[in-house]
Amino acid sequence: MDAKELREKYQQFFESKNHKRIASASLIPENDASVLFTTAGMHPLVPYLLGQKHPLGNRITDVQRCIRTGDIDEVGDDTHLTFFEMLGNWSMGDYFKEEAIKMSYEFLTNILGIPHEKLSFTCFAGDDDAPKDEEAASIWKSLGVSEKRIAFLPKKDNWWGPAGQTGPCGPDSEMFYWNSDEKAPEAFDPEDDRWVEIWNDVFMQYDKQEDGSFVPLKQQNVDTGLGVERVAMILEGGKTVYDVSTIKPIYDLVSSLATSTVLPPDEKEYSIRVITDHMRSATFILGDERDVVPSNVDQGYILRRFIRRSIRHLYLLKATEDIPLHLENIASKVIDIFGGTYTNLFEKKEFIFSELKKESEKFISTLERGLSLVEKEMTRRMFGEVTLAEKNKDTIEKAKQEWFPKKKSVELTGKWLFDLFQSQGMPPEMTLEEVKNSYNATISNEKEALEEFAKEFEHHQELSRVGAEKKFKGGLADDSIATTRLHTATHLLNEALRKVISPDIKQKGSNITAERLRFDFNFDRKLTDEEVKAVEDMVNQQIKANIEISKEMMKLDDALKSGAQSEFGIRYPQEVSVYTMGAFSKEICMGPHVQNTSELGKFKIVKEQSSAAGIRRIKAVLEDN
Ligand code: SER
Repeated sequence: MDAKELREKYQQFFESKNHKRIASASLIPENDASVLFTTAGMHPLVPYLLGQKHPLGNRITDVQRCIRTGDIDEVGDDTHLTFFEMLGNWSMGDYFKEEAIKMSYEFLTNILGIPHEKLSFTCFAGDDDAPKDEEAASIWKSLGVSEKRIAFLPKKDNWWGPAGQTGPCGPDSEMFYWNSDEKAPEAFDPEDDRWVEIWNDVFMQYDKQEDGSFVPLKQQNVDTGLGVERVAMILEGGKTVYDVSTIKPIYDLVSSLATSTVLPPDEKEYSIRVITDHMRSATFILGDERDVVPSNVDQGYILRRFIRRSIRHLYLLKATEDIPLHLENIASKVIDIFGGTYTNLFEKKEFIFSELKKESEKFISTLERGLSLVEKEMTRRMFGEVTLAEKNKDTIEKAKQEWFPKKKSVELTGKWLFDLFQSQGMPPEMTLEEVKNSYNATISNEKEALEEFAKEFEHHQELSRVGAEKKFKGGLADDSIATTRLHTATHLLNEALRKVISPDIKQKGSNITAERLRFDFNFDRKLTDEEVKAVEDMVNQQIKANIEISKEMMKLDDALKSGAQSEFGIRYPQEVSVYTMGAFSKEICMGPHVQNTSELGKFKIVKEQSSAAGIRRIKAVLEDN
């Protein structure tokens, strides 16, 4: 059975147990602004785990595409990937531990044919928040599992969720497979990495609160996650995830590009794996229905890192003759493999290729300059403070011979990392990697240097914000009055949508020109003409009501607690300005706004359309009265 069949067999099995199949959701979570990517199948299902009724019932099965950037440092080993597919079956207030565990066992042993002797299990050990999960363990035992093959582990291992900061979570029970030709030992040792985790049954019965406490959920849920690549590795008889049929062709293509003769074999293998992994992730992010492009913030920054790190490793492999073309070919391979299942990839093929090309061209020109600055700095360190001009070729050679054989410990400043980032676009992680790999060094203060970098970065953003505001106040253009009025109208629209259409509506994006405002929000169908009219009317009432607009500086937490609206996906500073329009609207915002709503004229919605799956877009204008 290969990865493709596994996907199908799994969903068929759960359909035979009365589950309904749903499509994979976007890689960018809709219901949780505290995380950048969908890291597990549960993200899109959170509202239903909290009690909302799912239109297809309370048993669901799916395959969800996921990205976990927390694992980026493990990438290169045999089993960790940043992009992976997760199969899941879900009970939303229906079955609980017994049925979930029995179905998992039946699928592993009957459908996949995995021998009983090659399986082990973990259960939650219990703590102040929840008791030891004897129940799960006794269900495994009732299936013939010996006590020695069950380990009880603490929260760090056997608890899952919430996916973001708050929300559904609970104890879990994980299934491990003995991935070795040797006979599986009688007793399970969770520390032995020949036992590979393949599936996780989570018993979601708590709702984690902002204060850290766990409140029982209205309903008991089951969330299970089976890693497609890991299980396919076992079924297909591979040694690593790079042998899996959905990854191997990409890996082979990357390998064929490598021309370096000096890179040691293990480093070469590492670079090939990193590129294979990162380009899968980059292709999927670019192919997602939410149009993410490389940038310096949020998802765009991660995407940029995936692409730039791939390019950096292409350099190490000496696969540099036509990097944009290499990236296109690799992405094309990813699309060939997955486009049948995730049709967005086919639809967005040209977009994927052109964004990869733009980003690689941008990066390559700066990378060359950045790397030479790293070299300059490292050479300075090799020679101490003596200038290069004072050295002849022999002494340079001698210094290098002294430097390279033994690992050197160097200390770097966050400021230097930031200067390279700022002037050459070198991501700090890449600078660190270059120092470590090309100069045989360890960095004694890596954590501190990255923290200092983050501080510099924040400070810089604050300065550019203030700069932009100053420019604005100075009358950047005649258009400024028009955009300010539209900005205020955006707040009124945002609130009117919540009052007229649904209290769950959140801003998902906004763009204002001198002519019109554009506002994106989460909602899953077209608004009716009556609804559009009702929203317009409400905004116009507020304009006529002559409301004074006030601004107040607040701590972010206090602002959120006071009910001020915030925008999805935005990282706010700790101190924010909050704009209040009477009792009608309160939003965290940098402004600027008009003084009084009466300055706005007449509000009119000119278009209401879809912007992405589950996202609507309104365009509106202000007309003179
Ligand atoms: N949410 C759990 C996990 O990611 C099970 O799906 O492991």
